[in-house]
Amino acid sequence: MQLKFVSYMSSQTQVMTKQNIEDFLFKIREKNKRIAITGILLLIQGKFVQYIEGPAEEIDGIYDIIKNDKRHNNMILLDSGTLDERQFKNWSMAYKEVGDAQIKQIVGNQDLNLEGAFLENKNLEKHPVLKVLYDFIKTLSS
Ligand SMILES: Cc1cc2nc3c(=O)[nH]c(=O)nc-3n(C[C@H](O)[C@H](O)[C@H](O)COP(=O)(O)O)c2cc1C
Repeated sequence: MQLKFVSYMSSQTQVMTKQNIEDFLFKIREKNKRIAITGILLLIQGKFVQYIEGPAEEIDGIYDIIKNDKRHNNMILLDSGTLDERQFKNWSMAYKEVGDAQIKQIVGNQDLNLEGAFLENKNLEKHPVLKVLYDFIKTLSS
């Protein structure tokens, strides 16, 4: 079975309360367990950044469904490819909300131009959002 991953960024179209987010994550995690998808979702200043991994067919199917979800728009595909091994094998969908204070700590001010940064930044591995992601992964595995 070929494993595949996809990562993208999008804009939230509606404000979600803590309860909305919890219900949303509960449903996502239940379904991801059923279809063997794992990954991580970040919410940063109204932008979602998601990484999903799993069987290629399931990834293609769920990516199409997510693309049509009215809770977000302006989807930008960041990366996709095949995998030998999962990066988030114990996470049906890890979630992290990145607040202004945390962004300020990382980039020096609160104004993080995510689209610009992703589209123009040739040095993606140094991108502050990826640093948040890596720091978060470290806290998960410690
Ligand atoms: C930012 C975002 C990320 C999502 N991620 C997932 C996901 O990882 N897995 C999933 O099953 N649905 C995800 N969804 C929800 C799907 O778009 C869709 O609502 C859901 O899969 C429908 O499932 P159902 O038809 O079985 O109820 C996401 C939606 C949004 C807005």
